[in-house]
Amino acid sequence: METSYLGKRMSARFVAGETLERAIAVARRINSEGIQVTLDYLGENVSSLEEAAASRDAYLEALSAVCANGIQAYLSIKLTQFGMDFSSAICRDNVEQLVRAAGEKGEFIRVDMESSAYTERTFELVADIHSRFPGSVGCVVQAYLYRSAQDIERLCQQGIRVRLCKGAYLEPHNVAYPRKADVDRNYLRLMNVLLVHGSSPAIATHDERIVEETKRFATLQGISPDRFEFQMLYGVRRDLQRRLVRQGYRVRVYVPFGKAWYPYFMRRLAERPANVVFLARNLLRR
Ligand code: FDA
Repeated sequence: METSYLGKRMSARFVAGETLERAIAVARRINSEGIQVTLDYLGENVSSLEEAAASRDAYLEALSAVCANGIQAYLSIKLTQFGMDFSSAICRDNVEQLVRAAGEKGEFIRVDMESSAYTERTFELVADIHSRFPGSVGCVVQAYLYRSAQDIERLCQQGIRVRLCKGAYLEPHNVAYPRKADVDRNYLRLMNVLLVHGSSPAIATHDERIVEETKRFATLQGISPDRFEFQMLYGVRRDLQRRLVRQGYRVRVYVPFGKAWYPYFMRRLAERPANVVFLARNLLRR
């Protein structure tokens, strides 16, 4: 699927392209609209430690390219892309190499959150690396997990930067709220805590109701727009991204690139079944 012509055409809506060069060009264009970028080199659950080392090297190259081209971007990684399924020690070492290099360049690495099988290990690794490279690494909290209120509180105390999202994986009912209304309610609760106590909080959502509520809460608490940012995905709600920039809010767009787009793409379709119809219609039109 990932190498087929049809597959590439379908994924283009959500993926910037296959190469770093293309990702840098897309990031430059997004920056020109006053929007910052998160670059994500696609890949997860790699099948060997050699592949994990190759992912780390691809990220080191991306970091150099971001700095050399003066792009306003930081990088997002996944621990299963850095070898977590094979060795936590080697995974930690891979992440540390990247975070150290990022820290030296005044850059930042966000560790994305994957399924609940990895939640605890991800927080542990991030806290460990943060203790040695404070401010250079951050993580993600998923509002669908029951545990997230406690996690946010601890992360705020540790001064670790958090991106708050709803959560994109299929989780069992004993770890995550099954109903969307409960996830949304929990998101708002966590957003309140994060805005007041968090360090450079990121509110990652395309949900307009949550965006409006975040703006309202920040104004009420006297939190100025430069103390937090909204984050959205490449190819989703460009109108809302631009509107927020016009209103004086900070916006960052998550830009994935690379060949291993299939799992990322399937999560985007699952979030919004209307995307399937949209894509099918576009394919038929050509
Ligand atoms: P919701 O799903 O309720 O959607 C609200 C509205 O947004 C929809 O009605 C639609 O208009 C629009 N929309 C949402 N998704 C769309 C899509 N795919 N295509 C088109 N329109 C769409 N998850 C995770 O588990 N770990 C992570 O590390 C991250 N990281 C991350 C970074 C960033 C920057 C973002 C924006 C999101 C993530 N996510 C994530 C994904 C997140 O958990 C969630 O699955 C999606 O953001 C969709 O949820 P919304 O908050 O947008 O709300």
